[in-house]
Amino acid sequence: MPAQIIDGIAIAESVRNQVAAETQSLIAETGIVPHLAAVLVGNDPASEVYVRNKERACLKAGLKSTLHRLDAATPQAELLALVDALNRDTTIHGILVQLPLPKHLDSTQILDAIVPTKDVDAFHPENTGLMLQGRPRFLPCTPAGVMKMLHVSNIATAGRHAVVIGRSDIVGKPMAALLVQKGVDATVTICHSRTADIGSICRTADILIAAVGIPEFVKGHMVKPGAVVIDVGINRVNERLVGDVDYAAASAVASAITPVPGGVGPMTIAMLLQNTLTSARLS
Ligand code: GUN
Repeated sequence: MPAQIIDGIAIAESVRNQVAAETQSLIAETGIVPHLAAVLVGNDPASEVYVRNKERACLKAGLKSTLHRLDAATPQAELLALVDALNRDTTIHGILVQLPLPKHLDSTQILDAIVPTKDVDAFHPENTGLMLQGRPRFLPCTPAGVMKMLHVSNIATAGRHAVVIGRSDIVGKPMAALLVQKGVDATVTICHSRTADIGSICRTADILIAAVGIPEFVKGHMVKPGAVVIDVGINRVNERLVGDVDYAAASAVASAITPVPGGVGPMTIAMLLQNTLTSARLS
């Protein structure tokens, strides 16, 4: 039987509609309009697309969005000054500094400067710590989007073996942290570039989550028959978007799978809107 396709476009739309409805209620009850400030330094083409999509999604859901465009040569102090101004601006609820930043900038120092209560990316160590302890303020958008997809698709997690391929601070590590939380209750393995015999480990996964950034890294033989495969990868190969999973091969073995595009990608922005709304409520 071919794998069930987990439709990220549809699930993201339902999250965005829910955020839009709750935003209307918040505005009606308090007059507060959730407001996201995005900062784009330079003109990396992929970042331009991401930021434009974020702005569009905000406006469509009734949130306010302001884009701060800075020159690629902007010095660290100038970017820190902008973050400081946004931190102090009480009309702003979410601050997002688009990554990657130009090489001369110290991303860690910039991200750490965002006040944790406006850190809608949930990259700040305070928010990472709260998430790890199971009392989150905001959840990091991509891993939260994956959790939402599993939940909406009625995919059981308790006692099942989840294998996360990739150990980035943005996806792999928080993904593993969410899967192991009480109430989710997966048994979690993280694989990375130094993992020995990665194929054998992947083959033991009931839920296999690929976030390595290598096009079609996960081959069909690495997928256990009946497993759920979540592909976080977005790689551009010859003008075509491909995931970290060999979709044709894996979908012949898996019970459910996310496509690329149209899988995890749209969920990230939906969860960002959710975090911005949450932040406006907390303000
Ligand atoms: N660049 C790629 N993905 C993301 C993201 O989720 N947040 C930010 N700030 N930058 C990114």
